[in-house]
Amino acid sequence: MARSFTARLAAATFLGFLPAAALLLVLAARGVVAPLWVGLALALSLLTGGAAVAALARGRQRRDERLAAVADALMRHKPPFHLITRRRDAPPDPVESRLLDAAAAIAAELAVLAGQREEFEAILRSMSEAVVVTGRRGDVVLLNGAAHRMFALAPDANYLARDFVELCRDPRLQEFVARATAADATELIAGEVQIQLPAPRALEVSAAPVRQNPSAAAWVFVFHDISRLKSYETMRSDFIANLTHELRTPLTALYGYAETLQKGVDDPPTARRFLGIIARQTRRLARLIDDLVSLSDLERGFTPLKFERVAPMRVIEEAVELMLEQARERGVALAVKPEAAEAELTADRDRLHQVLINLIDNALKYTPRGGSVTVQAHAVEDIGVNIAGHNPLGGIAFSVADTGEGIPAAHIPRLTERFYRVDRARSRELGGTGLGLAIVKHIVQMHRGNLKIESRVREGTTVTVFLPSAPPRN
Ligand SMILES: Nc1ncnc2c1ncn2[C@@H]1O[C@H](COP(=O)(O)OP(=O)(O)OP(=O)(O)O)[C@@H](O)[C@H]1O
Ligand SMILES: [Mg+2]
Repeated sequence: MARSFTARLAAATFLGFLPAAALLLVLAARGVVAPLWVGLALALSLLTGGAAVAALARGRQRRDERLAAVADALMRHKPPFHLITRRRDAPPDPVESRLLDAAAAIAAELAVLAGQREEFEAILRSMSEAVVVTGRRGDVVLLNGAAHRMFALAPDANYLARDFVELCRDPRLQEFVARATAADATELIAGEVQIQLPAPRALEVSAAPVRQNPSAAAWVFVFHDISRLKSYETMRSDFIANLTHELRTPLTALYGYAETLQKGVDDPPTARRFLGIIARQTRRLARLIDDLVSLSDLERGFTPLKFERVAPMRVIEEAVELMLEQARERGVALAVKPEAAEAELTADRDRLHQVLINLIDNALKYTPRGGSVTVQAHAVEDIGVNIAGHNPLGGIAFSVADTGEGIPAAHIPRLTERFYRVDRARSRELGGTGLGLAIVKHIVQMHRGNLKIESRVREGTTVTVFLPSAPPRN
């Protein structure tokens, strides 16, 4: 480009002095001017013209180089610092100067934008909510890591420019997306959607149109997994329903018998029987309240564990001793299986005692007359708890085995839920509240231990509590 400019400049200079040269040659031909002077004048003109062309071309070339440097710097999103610094030594022309200032401003803005983009990406990465931005035609423009996890997407697959349907094929979510992106939807739309694909989840979804840039992104979808919240809500309402039911049953009996007695019962044995029922129901209510308080204290951490060195066999013997009378009444043999080697553990003695009493009580309650219950403890190398840096974790396994009625397999996973009972009426008849195993589970969890229930219908049940020898600190 610089060369064509030089050629054009040389041609212009040559053309400019062509009329003067022609006039000089005519004058020389007429003998008005001596040919020597004409030659000299032409040579001089060619020399000065050539020098001027060369100087101008050099200047133009340097300017071209500077402009190319500005363009290169902008391409790299950097301000042309070297030129701006040099400007102090040799000031460029005003147009070039404005160009340098504009380039520096653009580069500074690009740096700010790059910083903002980094922040935006960091926010998107750290969000627990899944974010998906789609274009006008429903094509994916952006999605974050949480979206990858929520929709179980292949980690290395590229979903950009693909249709939203490919992220999640659940029809209910598709329906929400279709509704949100309907042509006349201009407001933020939010709602709860239960999806089954890729896994059952309750989602809180919001969709907002992006109006600032109509040609690019069109919709921002934010998905918040509220499955856990929903299950807590269900648990809470189930708990209240169960609790009111558990309270109402003994209260109705108390009310009924008290009212009958108040009206007067002539037959003294009947009156005594009624009073017996009232006393039993009152005891049940008191037990229910005690168990509820115990469970709520455990859940809220009001009763921190008091760790001490405990000899497992001593705790077992103490618990069995306390339950011998009940076993005799029920006609069930209750025995302790001796331990092969003496072992010790660090635990809360009273809580461990509470666990064993609950398990032995269950075993006795659900074992028919003539059956047997065996309690034992032995050291194990792996209590089956996953704690980083402590694998495997050794400890003690306490087990209570009975030859009772057993538990159908489908019920086993739910036994530790509050108020859950295989046979509600039977448990209530036996004075149970359905909170025993929930309390056991809590105490075991607080010890960072493990609970295992194995059972065969009509053969018996074995409940094993695994506790670490020394509970690992966080
Ligand atoms: N050893 C067992 N054999 C058979 N069923 C059992 C046994 N242990 C527990 N279950 C079943 O698990 C249910 C829940 O036990 P849990 O100890 O929580 O409640 P409960 O014994 O009914 O009442 P509570 O312990 O509050 O007196 C029982 O109702 C019973 O159906
Ligand atoms: Mg129980």
